[in-house]
Amino acid sequence: MKRRTFLKTTTLAAAAAFATPALVRASSDKTLRIGTITPGSHFWTQTMDRVGTSMADKSGGTFKTQIFPSGQLGNEATMIQQIQSGGLDMGFLTVAEFSNRLDDMAALFTPYLVQDVGRASKLLTGPTATGMLEQYKSLGMKGLGFGLGGMRHLISREPGLTSADLAGRKYRITPFAPLRDFYELMDVAPTPVPLPGLFDALANGQVDGADIDLELAWKLKLYDQAPNLTITSQMMFPVVAVVSGKYWAALDDAEKQMLSQAVSEQIDWLFAQYVEFEPKWLNDLQGTGMNVTTAEPGFFGDTISEWNAIWEPKAPSIAPLRAEAKALA
Ligand code: BEZ
Repeated sequence: MKRRTFLKTTTLAAAAAFATPALVRASSDKTLRIGTITPGSHFWTQTMDRVGTSMADKSGGTFKTQIFPSGQLGNEATMIQQIQSGGLDMGFLTVAEFSNRLDDMAALFTPYLVQDVGRASKLLTGPTATGMLEQYKSLGMKGLGFGLGGMRHLISREPGLTSADLAGRKYRITPFAPLRDFYELMDVAPTPVPLPGLFDALANGQVDGADIDLELAWKLKLYDQAPNLTITSQMMFPVVAVVSGKYWAALDDAEKQMLSQAVSEQIDWLFAQYVEFEPKWLNDLQGTGMNVTTAEPGFFGDTISEWNAIWEPKAPSIAPLRAEAKALA
């Protein structure tokens, strides 16, 4: 194994010291630098912290890792460019952002592919999803593994019994084409709002509701402004660990295996967190007095079949993912 200078794993709290200059370094420095959009309290960031610790342990202290959370290096589109140029080594980034570049990634957002995070974890580590990681090569990256956030639901300022009640409303979405289509098909105005601004956007009526998971509804205290929660579980919200092609090519086989294993082990930890915490967050949200209802797929009317008609031709992995999902216990 090549020797590397190792100090310790660092989560960088302040962006200022590591703004753009952090991406300029000597070519001999192979410290693993990882960017993510989520803050330190989010399970995705914690997963990357754990990858850093694991790499230090596995390498006997020769690997140094720096985590840049909260979009310190820019938004996800910027981080993707940095990974492509080799300026950033690794990202733990939403598959949503990649679906704007790789149409087939839309398959992972197929409505009602899986019912819950337990099954989502199995599907995201199954043969079809694992094969889909190969597509990241075309972007100059090595895809190491898919993880996930919680299942997606709807919260709103006013209740809605069917998607027809939502027509004409503005809902916050993460901006990516498959989700934009889903909301437009319901005649809802999809409105991109960055997560840190969502509480205020609901408070001041910029949006009427949001496509969200239970973790964010709880941690961002969205229940204060949007007291209606419809448990729809209509989609997964996967994340992907990608390494720059340049960084990957400079690793020897043992190091590649070490990094792949560290990521895979910590993504397993991430899956376990969502399986454990989703019921707790739901319970906590119910405890706030939220109006919580559960909706069946019929809630969305024709939207699902219309979404399928648009995306099945563009995302060939939908069919094999459906077949695999069907076989999951
Ligand atoms: C979202 O845009 O909803 C989101 C972003 C990062 C992690 C989880 C959710």
